[in-house]
Amino acid sequence: MQVLSKTRGTLGHVARSISHPQRQAPVQHRLAFSTSRSMAQKQQPIKHGLVLGMTSSHKLYGAEAARLSSAQQQQIVSQVQALGSKGDAGSVQLILLNNGDEQPRHVAVVGLGQDGEISDGMDYTREIVRTAVANGVRQLCSRGPITDVAVGPMPCQQASAEGATLALYKFDAFKSKLGSAGENAEKAKVAFTCLEQAQPASDSWDAGIVYGEAQNFARDLMNAPANHMTPTIFANRVKDEFATLDNVQVNVYDQAWAERQRMGGLLAVSKGSEEPLRFVEIIYRGRGGGDVPLAMVGKGITFDTGGYNLKPGRHMDLMKGDMGGGATVVAAMRAIARLRLPIDVVATVPLCENMVSGGATKVSDVYTSRAGLTVEVMNTDAEGRIVLADALHYTIETHQPRAIVDVATLTGAMVAALGELYTGVFTPSPRLWAALAQASRDTDEPVWRMPLHDAWDAMLKSPVADLSNIGNKAEAGACTAAAFLRQFVGTPRALPGGSVLRDQNTDEALPRWAHLDIAGPMEASASSGYHQKGMSGRPTRLLIELARILAQAPLP
Ligand code: BES
Ligand code: MN
Ligand code: ZN
Repeated sequence: MQVLSKTRGTLGHVARSISHPQRQAPVQHRLAFSTSRSMAQKQQPIKHGLVLGMTSSHKLYGAEAARLSSAQQQQIVSQVQALGSKGDAGSVQLILLNNGDEQPRHVAVVGLGQDGEISDGMDYTREIVRTAVANGVRQLCSRGPITDVAVGPMPCQQASAEGATLALYKFDAFKSKLGSAGENAEKAKVAFTCLEQAQPASDSWDAGIVYGEAQNFARDLMNAPANHMTPTIFANRVKDEFATLDNVQVNVYDQAWAERQRMGGLLAVSKGSEEPLRFVEIIYRGRGGGDVPLAMVGKGITFDTGGYNLKPGRHMDLMKGDMGGGATVVAAMRAIARLRLPIDVVATVPLCENMVSGGATKVSDVYTSRAGLTVEVMNTDAEGRIVLADALHYTIETHQPRAIVDVATLTGAMVAALGELYTGVFTPSPRLWAALAQASRDTDEPVWRMPLHDAWDAMLKSPVADLSNIGNKAEAGACTAAAFLRQFVGTPRALPGGSVLRDQNTDEALPRWAHLDIAGPMEASASSGYHQKGMSGRPTRLLIELARILAQAPLP
């Protein structure tokens, strides 16, 4: 679904989809009210919506900026009061505004909470706004054929645009009776307008549209059924999506390339499938000069059956989203490029299926990874770490990034530990952790730091190879998976090939690497606020924000 955005002019103009929001100067927006109105117009179904914020003291937020007359404000507030609303954060009251307005509109008055609580740019205010606008937009559009929604001034413009953009997401690409009730088709066409005045660049409506659309893009990639999102289709889609962006280079590699790269892990997982593997590499140059402050690696298993350690049937459908790490990394890259952030970023995604066949990897098979370490496959369902290890090693050696972040739907143990709210972050680097924690606060994408410990390295010992792909005890599954990855990013002992990422914040040679296990947040079990039931596209906004933070304050 393409959400249209209009940021110039008054209401009623044709909306356009945004392409280069960074080039637009902030423009003041006005609600265009007129006093004349014919009866014929009045009887037509109402197609226009307006979202307004209201505090718990029944004060409309930014009513002057929205150019609402005092009579109109009075009309809105008295209707809301009659409905018994207290303006609680996230609450929505739908009313009708037809006072002197040429085109009557449905108005969603959304609660922003206590006056005193509302503070521009404060952490909790952003999440309140994101949720309130999403609730308002969704309720408006459930009322009928709304074609455009004006979003009134909000304490945080970026969060407001994110809420609007994320709220109407629907994955209906495979619904043949699309729009039979007129609903889906209309939703897809809703155009948003921002009524806010000029904002600082750090909190802009346009940036919010880009952040929100990126998460929707990741949702689309993840929700697509696995037969419509094979490694080949994924890679082609990436090429298409970046084709119009002049500052990005996309390389798509095949099996012959992976063989030349000696990516024994990617080949070992892929060989059970008839679908050819792909390896996607995205290089964004927002600054130039050869320095790569950030690299991202996303797990791209387009379907995970478990291989010979076959998964039980229940919930196996979820495994169409096992490329969620790849999806969020790619989506974040697109946003980074659209925003033209002044930083160079590289992303890689190893893509294959994890299947069962006569040629599939068997339990106890040994392969040689790109790093040269031999690995005994003691569980074919622990495939994510195998493909990530090769991709991490390739990306570090090829691009020598200052920091590298991998994102993966890696372990069921992570779901058990933190559930669907939190992304688990494993990193030895205090500085990279600080940047991720800041990105988390900025975007309201919760993260929780998880431990790395040498004791878990010891649990990966194999009697026949350098290491096993699973821990030898049925415990700490998310931690042993992270310990496995750590072997390939430069542990305190030298990494085969010589590359070591260092953190100068400490005296030790620690890799400046973070592993994000997103097995929990990959799916939203229910719709609420700006979350939609289904594949979540999380934590795309966190990754964009990380790049924005590192662009402003690069790690030394
Ligand atoms: N993709 C799964 C992890 C997963 C499970 C993500 C449930 C989301 C929801 C991964 O490839 C996997 O199968 N991991 C195994 C590892 C085990 C065999 C050591 C797991 O967690 O069970
Ligand atoms: Mn698996
Ligand atoms: Zn998997």
